[in-house]
Amino acid sequence: KSVLKSDLLGKEVVHFFDTDSTNNEAKKLAADGAVEGTIVVSEAQNSGRGRLSRGFFSPASKGIWLSVILRPSFAPQHASKCTLVTAVAVTKAIEKFTGIRCGIKWPNDIFYEGKKLVGILTEMNAEMDAVNYIVIGIGINVNIAQAEFPEELQRIATSLQAISGNAIERKELLSQVLVELESAYLEILKNGFLHILNEWKTYSITLGQAVNVIGIDQTFSGIAKDIDEDGALLVETENGVERVLAGDVSIRPK
Ligand code: BTN
Repeated sequence: KSVLKSDLLGKEVVHFFDTDSTNNEAKKLAADGAVEGTIVVSEAQNSGRGRLSRGFFSPASKGIWLSVILRPSFAPQHASKCTLVTAVAVTKAIEKFTGIRCGIKWPNDIFYEGKKLVGILTEMNAEMDAVNYIVIGIGINVNIAQAEFPEELQRIATSLQAISGNAIERKELLSQVLVELESAYLEILKNGFLHILNEWKTYSITLGQAVNVIGIDQTFSGIAKDIDEDGALLVETENGVERVLAGDVSIRPK
C-alpha cells in the first residue's frame, strides 16, 4: 500500500491471492458499504469475467487484476462513459510507465499492434435515480510470455512483457494507473465528460475504420465516424448513421 501515490483511489486495499473475480468481490464489498476509492486486487482470478459474458484469462502474479469502487454523484446514465474514461487513463499510465503507446478499440479494449493488452468491465448498481456504486474492473496483461497464453488467445492477446521484452514492476504500474484514473475521475466530476471523450478520440483505433457491428438484435457494417456525447459509436452505413451503445465492434481488415 505504501507505494500508492493516489489519494482517493486505494484508500482501502483488499488483496487476494486467488478469487473468482475481483469485480465480484468489489460488488460484495460495495453492497456492504465499502468507501469510495476501495480497490480490490488479486494475484489470480479463477473465474475472471469479460464483457458480453466472456471469460478473462488471469494467471497468478502475471497481470494486474484490479477493481475500483466509485460512488459518483452523477446520474446512472453517465456510468457507461466511465469505461471510456478508464481506457484513456490506463492507456496514459502505460505510456508514461513503459513508453509503449497503445490504441483503444471502442469502447474500451486497449490494443497493441492488433492484439489485446487490457480489458475493462464496468458494472453499476443504481437505486431510484442515483448511482449506489460503480465497479470498474481492469485487467492488464503484464508479465505473460506470449507462449503462456492459451491456444485460442495466442493470436489475439499480448502482454507488456511480450511487447517490450522486459518484466514490468506490477506495483509501480498499478500505482500509475490509480494516479491517472483518479485525475480523470476528478476531472469528470468537476467539468463533465467532454474533455476526456475528446482525448479518447486521439487514442482511438476504431474511428475512420470499416467495422462490423454485432449488436443486441442486429448486425451491420459501415464506417466508424465518431463518438457522441454519450460515448456511443456512430457508424455510417448504407441506410444512414447507426448509433451503437453496446455490442461488439470488430475492425474489418483492409
Ligand atoms: C473484457 O475484456 O471484456 C473485459 C475484461 C475485464 C477483466 C477485469 S480483470 C479485473 C476485473 N475482474 C473481472 O472478473 N474482470 C475484470
